[in-house]
Amino acid sequence: MSNILVADDEHAICMAFSRMLRQAGHRPLLAANAKQAMEHLHADRVDAVFLDVRMPGMNGLDLLERIRADYPELPVVVMTAYGTMDTAKRALELGAFDYLGKPLELTRVRDLLQRALYRPAPETLPQAALTDAAAPGSAAQLIGQSAAMQEVFKLMALLADNDLAVLVTGESGVGKELVARDIHRYSGRRKARFLAVNCAAIPEPLIESELFGHERGAFTGAAERRVGRFEAVAGGTLFLDEIGELPLTLQGKLLRVLQERQFERVGSHQPLELNARVIAATNRDLGTEVEQGRFREDLFHRLNLVTLRIPPLRKRVDDIGLLSSHFLQQAAAELGKRFIGIEPAALDHLKSYAWPGNVRELEHLIKRSVLGARGPVLSVHDVELPTAPGSEIADGHRLLERLGQAARAALRQATQGGAIDAADGNGPFHRLVTFVEQELITEALHLTGGNQVSASRLLALHRTTLRKKMRTTGGDMGGDDETHKNG
Ligand SMILES: Nc1ncnc2c1ncn2[C@@H]1O[C@H](COP(=O)(O)OP(=O)(O)OP(=O)(O)O)[C@@H](O)[C@H]1O
Ligand SMILES: [Mg+2]
Repeated sequence: MSNILVADDEHAICMAFSRMLRQAGHRPLLAANAKQAMEHLHADRVDAVFLDVRMPGMNGLDLLERIRADYPELPVVVMTAYGTMDTAKRALELGAFDYLGKPLELTRVRDLLQRALYRPAPETLPQAALTDAAAPGSAAQLIGQSAAMQEVFKLMALLADNDLAVLVTGESGVGKELVARDIHRYSGRRKARFLAVNCAAIPEPLIESELFGHERGAFTGAAERRVGRFEAVAGGTLFLDEIGELPLTLQGKLLRVLQERQFERVGSHQPLELNARVIAATNRDLGTEVEQGRFREDLFHRLNLVTLRIPPLRKRVDDIGLLSSHFLQQAAAELGKRFIGIEPAALDHLKSYAWPGNVRELEHLIKRSVLGARGPVLSVHDVELPTAPGSEIADGHRLLERLGQAARAALRQATQGGAIDAADGNGPFHRLVTFVEQELITEALHLTGGNQVSASRLLALHRTTLRKKMRTTGGDMGGDDETHKNG
């Protein structure tokens, strides 16, 4: 959840923003003038500002100057009803992130908000990746003794000395990124960078320039030339994580880059040579995505030449012992405790669980267990496996109860209202479906702290479908303050 400051003397605009921001899982901070805006800035952490130009007292452009001086990193979007090019130009000169003409267009506001809030994750920054990959042995290494992992290791060894594109598939937490890092670590490209790009984490309008870079002036806001990931990777390995989330248009471009081993910055015709190995990963079934028209078949075949399928942990129980000891030693060292091993009963207990979160879940569980345990041997009492928690069942019952009430109310209303036009989207069926969708989406957003990407994954709903649903059923979703707390 981000804190978004909206400064506008027009009450209706503030309200519209407030609603839209809540729906997107953010917290609106409203100000009717410059003074109130500065008070918010001093009192709260603010992540982005939407600023009206004409306000009583200090006007928006002067306020912009002050914000730039005090908070140079903060993105400020300037809004103006008197949208002459002069104001817009002046705003950009003063360092505004972008400007919006009034009347406001909701989709453009949403896009801008996404762009303003976008920060590359620290682990995907070139520098971090560089140190990581340049020091083999220091970072985590893939381990496993199951027959399935032995097969994976064999394939990885075969891949070390060529440049074939690789697709790594498997459920969340099975170790796909670690596989990619290890392929890089043992390849001829190990001295160069390993760069990770999470296709699901970058707002759609930004992906192309993030991947391929752009020339100065290629689009509004492109003040400087920017080097994309394909260029920055400079001879190393580019890891395209969550490739299933890449928009279709970009899929076509990526295919061309892989085929021709050339690409261009946005706004340029100068071809640049691709000097990198590309490893893609996904926890979706790309075959199904292709069938449903969400993933290009040609790109799928191109990536699918070499596929490393990492089985879920429950299908390679033989790895649980080795992984557990490994995570035990790691956690003990981190927490300054001494452990010599795991009691056999505790290990059996671990092997009996299905591990829906796979190796990541095991890693976290061992860490939690070590934290609470005395040592030097991890016993069955120290290991607390998640069971279906009572509260969740109770939540489910409550939801069903509300659904039942809503169903009865809708039907009662329909019988009282007489004949219903079948084409009318307001009948009991539509109203109930909308109700259920709303409940599910609200709950998913709540569980994921308002993160739409995680929520769509949780619901196994495509990100754009989720957004569309939030927009169409969105009517009341932002009304409940409690819903989006703890972001
Ligand atoms: N075979 C393994 N040996 C050691 N550590 C592992 C292994 N597999 C996974 N891990 C650890 O488990 C965690 C999750 O792994 P990773 O991030 O690679 O999973 P992922 O498949 O990319 O998950 P997601 O789909 O959620 O992104 C990491 O901390 C990783 O170091
Ligand atoms: Mg991953």
